[in-house]
Amino acid sequence: MSHVALDVIARRAPSFRADIGLVLGSGMGEFAEKVRDQIVLPYADLPGFEQSGVSGHAGRLVLGRLGKVSVAVLQGRIHYYERGDAAAMKTPIETLHGLGCESLILTNAAGSLMPEVGPGGLMVLSDHVNYVQGSPLFGIATNKRFVDMVGAYDADLRRQLKACADKLGIALHEGVYAWLAGPQFETPAEIRALRGLGINAVGMSTVPDVILARYFGMKVLAVSAITNMGAGMSDEQLSHEHTMAQMAAAAEKLTRLLLAFLDSQP
Ligand code: HPA
Repeated sequence: MSHVALDVIARRAPSFRADIGLVLGSGMGEFAEKVRDQIVLPYADLPGFEQSGVSGHAGRLVLGRLGKVSVAVLQGRIHYYERGDAAAMKTPIETLHGLGCESLILTNAAGSLMPEVGPGGLMVLSDHVNYVQGSPLFGIATNKRFVDMVGAYDADLRRQLKACADKLGIALHEGVYAWLAGPQFETPAEIRALRGLGINAVGMSTVPDVILARYFGMKVLAVSAITNMGAGMSDEQLSHEHTMAQMAAAAEKLTRLLLAFLDSQP
């Protein structure tokens, strides 16, 4: 239960409040090192926070400041494919909301379905397709579960991010992300079908977290770091090692972009 996690946090960081929450996906963990005045809580100390078994996901909640804002950073996320539970991130996201976060920024690694955007590229999400059709809201028995997903990805936050990207000379594409369960990568036939559906990038995360953020009333900004072309679109061999290796170039740009964005916040 998240109030238990909030109690643990309150003992370590009395009266700490956050403006913005961040969920750092694969290969973006180092971003947490930029946080000033850090207070670090390992997920093991926080009831309901599950450690991801995937390499590159540290499993720490980092509290502190970035730019002028107070942040709560989830350094590592558990994925649906680890246990088949779409609600595995419910307590961490609820806790960020409980700490005061009005906005949630998410990053992920993704495969590109856009021939013109290759590894190292960045795409801000304008919308998603929940291809898994799973939900972290299964089992909630109140009408609050019927969440409106129109405008789930906040247009204003996206505009602000684009302005920062333009200032830095970083190409920021915009598009629709589809959530695939994984952990296997897609087949070339699946990628062809998804391209036909108008999808721009594919990945194995983020969508359940976005549904939860909207359930709790937080604004969402999400960015994909492109690590590869969708299966069958190039002759790269897909693997987790390949994803992590390709993340490096994108992570450097994404780190600069997010720091500029947070710096620009009032
Ligand atoms: N498919 C799904 N998830 C991914 C990919 C991909 O091609 N690349 C990085 N995460």
